[in-house]
Amino acid sequence: MSDNKKITLTIDGKTIQAESGQSIMNACDAQGIYIPRLCDSTGLVPQGSCRVCSVKVNGRVVAACTQPAEDGANIEHESDEIQGYRKDLVRMLFHEGNHLCPICEASGRCELQAMAYRFGISQATTYPYLQPVRPVDASHPDIALDNNRCILCGRCIRASRDVDGKNVFEYVGRGIHKRIGVNGDCLADTNADLNDYAMSLEVCPVGCIIRKGEGFFSPVGERQYDSDKIGSNIENHTAHSSLGKLIKVHQIDPNDAIHDDIDQSNVNEDKS
Ligand code: SF4
Ligand code: SF4
Ligand code: FES
Repeated sequence: MSDNKKITLTIDGKTIQAESGQSIMNACDAQGIYIPRLCDSTGLVPQGSCRVCSVKVNGRVVAACTQPAEDGANIEHESDEIQGYRKDLVRMLFHEGNHLCPICEASGRCELQAMAYRFGISQATTYPYLQPVRPVDASHPDIALDNNRCILCGRCIRASRDVDGKNVFEYVGRGIHKRIGVNGDCLADTNADLNDYAMSLEVCPVGCIIRKGEGFFSPVGERQYDSDKIGSNIENHTAHSSLGKLIKVHQIDPNDAIHDDIDQSNVNEDKS
């Protein structure tokens, strides 16, 4: 927590001011410097698990979301070494889960996919694809949980526990078998509700928590990251708002009819 005492630090040779007690990430956000992140989300307690926000402070690699900014710190953020670590972590997430972007409901608003684009990752790497067999829990009338796309960021756990006061989600298993479980035999056995913050578009960064009946609501070209790369809201000095609030929702009729609230000028008339 910030105590309003001003401190000075250097990031990639640039001197910035911060408040004592701020995390490095929050200090950089305030200066329009975007540090990549996946497990961190505005309004949730930082967890420091994905390490995509890695920076080097006085020669030591730390997580910017949990590391307090200290007076006189010398921070490496965009060096080849640090960017290489971040890229590798993102690459490994693709190889560790089952990610088929073209058929994923979250495509275009997914933070993992957007991070890959930001890092210029477009090809498979030499890492093996683990192709795990993971459950899909579609038992709840309004919500589905597709573990194939889960990146174990824990944002749903913290949102349910700290914001909703419910504890719907939890980590289960260990090591390579670790996954997100629910507080019951299946989602339908829990007190999960579509109106929970944990089920909102702000929380799950990928297409794991799915709101039934609301999929594919933005046409290609109008999805959140089609034109704005991830982090541009911070780099453009706009408020560090919840990413989900930037999403334009165009509900697609299940019978392929187009609702009146869609701007018809954006609809491709060629239906062939
Ligand atoms: S969750 Fe993201 S990365 Fe995974 S398949 Fe969906 S769009 Fe692609
Ligand atoms: S379900 Fe979504 S929010 Fe929860 S851990 Fe997996 S990716 Fe993160
Ligand atoms: S955003 Fe800092 S460790 Fe995930």
